[in-house]
Amino acid sequence: ATAQFGARAGKKSKEDKNFELLLENQVDFIQTKALQGIVDVKNKSKTKKKKSKDSSEDSDSSSMSEEEIVEAEKLLTTEEKQRLSIKQQRESLPIYPYRDQLLAALRDHQVLIIVGETGSGKTTQVPQYLHEIGYTKFGKIGVTQPRRVAAMSVAARVAQEMNVKLGHEVGYSIRFEDCTSDKTVLKYMTDGMLLREFLGDPRLDGYTCLMIDEAHERTLHTDVLFGLVKDVARERKDLKLLISSATMDAEKFSDYFDGAPVFKFPGRRYPVDMFYTKQPEADYVEAAVITTLQIHVTQPRGDILVFLTGQEEIETAQEMLQQRTRGLGTKISELMICPIYSTLPSDMQAKIFEPTPPGARKVVLATNIAETSLTIDGIIYVIDCGFAKQTSYNPRTGMESLIVTPISKASANQRAGRAGRVAPGKCFRLYTAWSFQNELDDTTIPEIQRTNLGNVVLMLKSLGINDLIHFDFMDPPPAETLIRALEQLYALGALNDEGELTKLGRRMAEFPLDPMLSKCVIQSEAFKCVDQVITVCCMLSVGNSIFFRPKEKAIHADNARKNFFRPGGDHICLLNVFEQWKETNYSTQWCFENFIQVRSMKRARDIKEQLIELCKRVEIDYAEETLSVVDDEYYSNVRKAIASGFFYNTAKLQKSGNYKTLKNQHTVHIHPSSCMFEALPKWVIYHELVYTTKEYMRNIIELNPDWLLEIAPHYYKKSDIEDDDKKEKKVKMPPKGK
Ligand code: CDP
Ligand code: MG
Repeated sequence: ATAQFGARAGKKSKEDKNFELLLENQVDFIQTKALQGIVDVKNKSKTKKKKSKDSSEDSDSSSMSEEEIVEAEKLLTTEEKQRLSIKQQRESLPIYPYRDQLLAALRDHQVLIIVGETGSGKTTQVPQYLHEIGYTKFGKIGVTQPRRVAAMSVAARVAQEMNVKLGHEVGYSIRFEDCTSDKTVLKYMTDGMLLREFLGDPRLDGYTCLMIDEAHERTLHTDVLFGLVKDVARERKDLKLLISSATMDAEKFSDYFDGAPVFKFPGRRYPVDMFYTKQPEADYVEAAVITTLQIHVTQPRGDILVFLTGQEEIETAQEMLQQRTRGLGTKISELMICPIYSTLPSDMQAKIFEPTPPGARKVVLATNIAETSLTIDGIIYVIDCGFAKQTSYNPRTGMESLIVTPISKASANQRAGRAGRVAPGKCFRLYTAWSFQNELDDTTIPEIQRTNLGNVVLMLKSLGINDLIHFDFMDPPPAETLIRALEQLYALGALNDEGELTKLGRRMAEFPLDPMLSKCVIQSEAFKCVDQVITVCCMLSVGNSIFFRPKEKAIHADNARKNFFRPGGDHICLLNVFEQWKETNYSTQWCFENFIQVRSMKRARDIKEQLIELCKRVEIDYAEETLSVVDDEYYSNVRKAIASGFFYNTAKLQKSGNYKTLKNQHTVHIHPSSCMFEALPKWVIYHELVYTTKEYMRNIIELNPDWLLEIAPHYYKKSDIEDDDKKEKKVKMPPKGK
């Protein structure tokens, strides 16, 4: 018995082994100079440390004493925050002392630029201040956000602070989701939604005040809004205009808005110790996971914010973290993992704001959504992969793709700043100091200069703005990009020879969809498949979150998915998923059994209802639908309707097994997730290009090239689609007979 006992004691427990394994794998960091805070912490600590005699006055105390850290960390404890009433929380925000000054400035000026540190209360407080002093008596206050998630979560927070039901006095409006009512006076919305509102109400008469928030992000829609609201403000002297930004280059905004005054208020920021990797990291997701665990095991408490580039990476990191912390028992404390990205369902988004349970540590895995739009309390550690997904557009080839791109220095510093909001923090950059200095641009290029402008041009045209070259852009888009957008709209039939909006174009502009998709919907009437095409559009609109593929059940998930494959392509497969779901009367259980994400499906169904309403508005006969599955043309007509919008995206199979786009001879590949991945049809039309390791076409349909001549005779000639092989063969064949 003793021997046995001894043997057991000598043997390491499984937990111990796992723990050692976890410690073995480390990322090496070098610490550099701390990022200085704009701290009024020093004054604060002085008053707090009155008793300690040696409270030195020396000013370069970038790092705080243990005591101060403990003091500051108190702010974090969930009990502490919960104990504070909403009123106290609001009054503790850096913007609060400037409330009256700010309101006075806005009384005296029509346009005001507000600049303040992220998390200081611009988005949640300023609209409330305006409401409190009566700005909402005669109209609404509109606040734009570049991101859907931010619009929703901020509105929820403000509703909570005002103790009203979300959707009543405080609401939000994002594409395909309107959570407002007649009562709504504070309306948070995406910048794209305000842009749409211009179509119905070009003077925005419903608003007394507009706040273009997160202006520093310079999204495409925000940039276009600048030009439009500047114009409206000139016309409507009663309209107040606030432009708010987290970064300090406010002069540019001021210049643009005819020298509007800049209202800057100091934030509260603690110093952040900076760490860089010794060597470049080959796999930043892996490095982020290891660093997270390193922090979790070795660092004092405080939550972690990890910046990655997208849903896939976030899910991978989440799985890795779960796997590696499993089987450690009580060796480490609990790690609460919270993902956040734009397509995450809203109930799951709310989780990031839930207080961390005592003794646990929260790790938030985020896209750059958490860079400035969202503030999560309690973050002490930031891990920055140094990349973000960005659209990139080449007007010459007309190709737009989403590419993982290095962030700018400005972004990197914003990210680091997130660690110093409630206490001194630490930022771990998963790249070298050299790389930061030499490889990152100073600032991010505004989106308007690197994206396809089709949508925006169509919208401006429907607002009657014809001369786009002279539109008052803060930073104008490249002329080539504008011309390309005009050409594309012309090819789609939305513009005539004179560059004026056609009847078709006017109808297209009604849909909150990409012009190519709008065209498909409108054309589907002629192909008698309105319902099907709308379904496809909705399924495409919810993004790539229809199929659920848990790692441990990957084979089952893939098989389930294969069952939905139909000849014709991915669009048909998506249509099939929706129609089968509909047959089960929208069953959740069915989704579950077939590895389909029920949330995404419900969202697609919601969108569908709205698109049906819009069809009525532009007089597309939705009910007049004669084809059914048994008809021969059922699927081919759906494909034709898709092709009528996307004919531009045609690619042809080459002998090499790759594809080349028809117009530009650009090499592209079928995405491995496509149901056509093995079929390799000769002709395809793709929905979009994504660039990962190669340039991939995602969501494709098989095309009969003759359709191109039928659908887009102005765009393709017979010679475009002639078969090279046949041509060759014909020549080589010996003359018949004799
Ligand atoms: O706009 P700005 O970055 O200046 O700050 P804000 O978004 O108005 O946030 C002010 C404070 O509200 C944050 O520091 C959070 O403490 C709190 N907040 C929250 O608790 N939950 C949210 N969904 C948003 C903000
Ligand atoms: Mg904000």
